[in-house]
Amino acid sequence: MIIIEKSSHSNSIDFNDISFGKNYSDHMLYCQFNNGKWEYPILKKFGEITVSPISLVFHYGQAIFEGMKAYKDKDGNVFLFRPFENFNRINSSAQRLEMPLISKSIFIDGLKQLLYIDKNWIPNNYGQSIYIRPFLIASDGRLSANPSKKYIFMIICTPASNYYFTPLKVNIEQKYSRSADGGIGFTKAAGNYASSFFPTRIAQEEGYDQILWTDSSTHSLIEESGTMNVFFYIKDSLITAPANKKILNGITRKSIITLAKEKGIRVKECNLSVSELIYNIRKNLVKEVFGCGTAVVLNFFKKIGYKCENFYLPKISYEKRISFFLKKRLLDIQHNVVDDPFGWRFKL
Ligand code: PLP
Ligand code: COI
Repeated sequence: MIIIEKSSHSNSIDFNDISFGKNYSDHMLYCQFNNGKWEYPILKKFGEITVSPISLVFHYGQAIFEGMKAYKDKDGNVFLFRPFENFNRINSSAQRLEMPLISKSIFIDGLKQLLYIDKNWIPNNYGQSIYIRPFLIASDGRLSANPSKKYIFMIICTPASNYYFTPLKVNIEQKYSRSADGGIGFTKAAGNYASSFFPTRIAQEEGYDQILWTDSSTHSLIEESGTMNVFFYIKDSLITAPANKKILNGITRKSIITLAKEKGIRVKECNLSVSELIYNIRKNLVKEVFGCGTAVVLNFFKKIGYKCENFYLPKISYEKRISFFLKKRLLDIQHNVVDDPFGWRFKL
């Protein structure tokens, strides 16, 4: 059962002027975990919440989240994209951070109701969507460093178009790390993002948009970048880092791999060393490099920095890029422009 407390007021939105995270839909899902069980979720007006200052989320960072999208087709039908992947991933993050698992009825049914009540917030322009942010935080504690006994699960939504508007410049990180063996790199834990802000600011001050992360022990193997998994189109293969326990196993990544294989492109999920990458760039064998993720969708890179040297990737017109083809194929499936041979669309 979901308790619905409908807002008496609906905010308006101009879909021609969407920037990521600027506007939030009228309602949010709110659900508390108390005494070892989840209470009934409540759909209520988007707004502030009250939590105790001793909540563990503030002190020890028990916080995880997801990122997913819903799309409209030209007739106004609404589709979530692979929502069960996000459902499974939030629970694997929850398990790693010693937080309670969320049930399908709270996550999926709650989300369906939220999107139904706020369906006017879903843009119907091709390439636009509603970005959905489910998150789970610890809301209790005794200041001792132990897992919380109370939690809050919420879902909020923001209309979305492009995350980046230009090709990206990335710097290969040689000092800081995003994750380590045995750590939480595979989770969408808030702390993974907090720890990236300082090195990212340094990279940005040096003229880059994002960091291209490397492995924490040798800084010689490429992992991922910012909020994206990364693909390298070298000779005739598309190479991406293996989804091990150190990188986020992106749902867009999985989808791009499937779509590339469908197109007959050879995909290698293997480690790519920095020296191999630089060698191939110098030999003009790297045709394209791109990052992908739910918020970003797919964005190609134009410059890669390494130890104070910059390497420029080939200038290829958009329509001739493999990344352009893959992005369009993905968006066509998401927006119900073409058949969905993989069963990725989930109609509301
Ligand atoms: N890697 C990181 C660190 C991310 O934050 C994201 C975004 O969610 C991704 C990769 C891509 O994952 P997905 O395609 O599931 O959004
Ligand atoms: C996503 O793509 O869903 C993300 O999590 C990106 C977000 C951190 C802005």
